[in-house]
Amino acid sequence: MAQVAIIGAGHLGVVYAAGLADLGHRVRVVDIDARRVRDLRRGRLWFHEPGLPELLRRVRRRVDFTTDPAEALAQAAFILVCVPTPSGPTGDLDDSMLRAAFDAIRRHVTVDAIVINKSTVPVGTAEGLFTGTGLRVVSSPEFLAEGRAVTDFFHPERIVLGTRDADAGRRVAELFGKLKAPVVHTDGTSAELAKLAANTFLAMKVSFANSLARLAESLGADTDDVTRVLALDPRIGGGHLKAGIGFGGSCLPKDVGAIEHLARDRGVSADLFGAILRVNRDQREHVIARLAEGLGSLVGKRVAVLGLAFKAGTDDTRESAGVYIAERLLTLNALVTVYDPIARIAIVYGATKASATRSALAAARGADAVVIATDWPEFSRLAPPSLAKAMRGDLVIDGPGALDPVAARAAGFRYYGFGRGGRVTAAPAGAGPAPRRSARRRRS
Ligand code: UDX
Repeated sequence: MAQVAIIGAGHLGVVYAAGLADLGHRVRVVDIDARRVRDLRRGRLWFHEPGLPELLRRVRRRVDFTTDPAEALAQAAFILVCVPTPSGPTGDLDDSMLRAAFDAIRRHVTVDAIVINKSTVPVGTAEGLFTGTGLRVVSSPEFLAEGRAVTDFFHPERIVLGTRDADAGRRVAELFGKLKAPVVHTDGTSAELAKLAANTFLAMKVSFANSLARLAESLGADTDDVTRVLALDPRIGGGHLKAGIGFGGSCLPKDVGAIEHLARDRGVSADLFGAILRVNRDQREHVIARLAEGLGSLVGKRVAVLGLAFKAGTDDTRESAGVYIAERLLTLNALVTVYDPIARIAIVYGATKASATRSALAAARGADAVVIATDWPEFSRLAPPSLAKAMRGDLVIDGPGALDPVAARAAGFRYYGFGRGGRVTAAPAGAGPAPRRSARRRRS
C-alpha cells in the first residue's frame, strides 16, 4: 500500500484516484476548484463516466479530496500530475498548469517522492523542464478513453514508464503491479512522443475511413463492408475505422495538432499530420454543404441536430461535430433545434438561439432536415416512419450510420449516410419552402 497524491480532480485525476484506491493505495487528490472538491467529497461527479460513481463509493475510505496542496503532498510517496494542457493557437500545448503543479510539488513535498506525469505534455518536458530540480519524474502517458475510462484503467493495453532513473521506473511499475499489462520502460521523451503518436494514429484511421467513405460513395460501394474487410487483417485492426462526421473530443484533435506543430518546429515533414486534420475539418463542412444542397438555402430552414457529445457514452462536448454543425447553422441563419441524451446544452451555448429539446423526436418536430451527429444507441432505435411523421421535410444526414439506409428511404427520406448509400438529391430550383417528401405525398 502506498501513499499517493494526485494533482488535478479532472476526468483523468478522478479515475486514477478511484482506480489506485481500488488497487489498495491511499489517495489524496488536490484541486484548486473548491466547488469541485466539495462535490467530490459528497460523492458527486461533475462529468459522466460509466461505473465511476459506483467505484468511488466503493473506495471512499481510501480517497479524499482537498484544496490544500500541503495536506495532499506532504506524505506522498508518489505524486500523479493530472492537469489540463490545452492547445495553444498554433497547436502547441499550454503547459502553464503543469508548471504550477510542479511549483507546488517543490514547495510541499517532504519525502523522496516520485512524480508521475499523466498530463499530455509538450514532448521533451520531463527531460527539459524538470532537470536540475531534484525531482524524480516518470512520464507515464495515459490512454483512457472517455466513456470507457474505468475499464481502460483496470485493463490497460500497456503501461508506459518514461524515465532514465531505473529505480524510479521499477517503483512505479510496482505501484501499478496488480494491473496485468505489458510495461514499456523508455526515456521520458519517447514516452511523451508515444502518447501523441498513438492518438495521431487513431485519428489517421478515422480520417482514412472518412476519405474512403467519400470514394465508396462516389462508386456506389458500401464503406462499412469495405472496412470490415480491412478489419479482418490483424495488421490493420478494426478500431477507429468507422466513417462519420469525423473525430472530436479533448485528445485526438489536440494531439494531432500538437504533433503537427512539433514536426514543423523540428523542421521535419508535417504533411501527413496536417492532412489528418484537413480531412476532419472537411468532413464537418461536408455536412453543411449537403444540407445546403438538399434544402436549397439554409436561411430560415429548421434543422435538428441529434447528438452534442463528441461521441456516445460521454457528456463531453469538446470539439464535438454536433456542436460545430449547430453553431455553423446558426451563423447561416438556419433555425436549429438540438437534442442529446446527456450532454447539457448550457455547457455548449449559454444564451443561444438553438433550442434544446427533451427527445430526438421533439427536436425533429417540424424540421426540414435532421443531422445525426453522435453514435448514441438510442438514435439507432429511431423508427424512420416516426421520424418522418415528426418532420416537415425529408432530408436526413446520418453521421454514425445510425439508421438503416433502406428503411430510411422506404420511409420517404432523402438519406445521406457517409458512404452508406444515397447521394442527396438537390432541392428543386429556387426552393424557398421546405421540400416535400414523396412518400408523404403518397400517404395523403
Ligand atoms: C482517445 C483515445 O482513444 C484514448 O486512448 C486517449 O487516451 C484519449 O483519446 P477519446 O477522445 O475518449 O479517447 O475518444 P475515442 O473513442 O478515441 O474517439 C475519438 C473520436 O473519434 C470520437 O469523436 C469518435 O466518434 C471518433 N471515431 C472513433 C470515429 O469517428 N470513428 C471510429 O471508428 C472511432
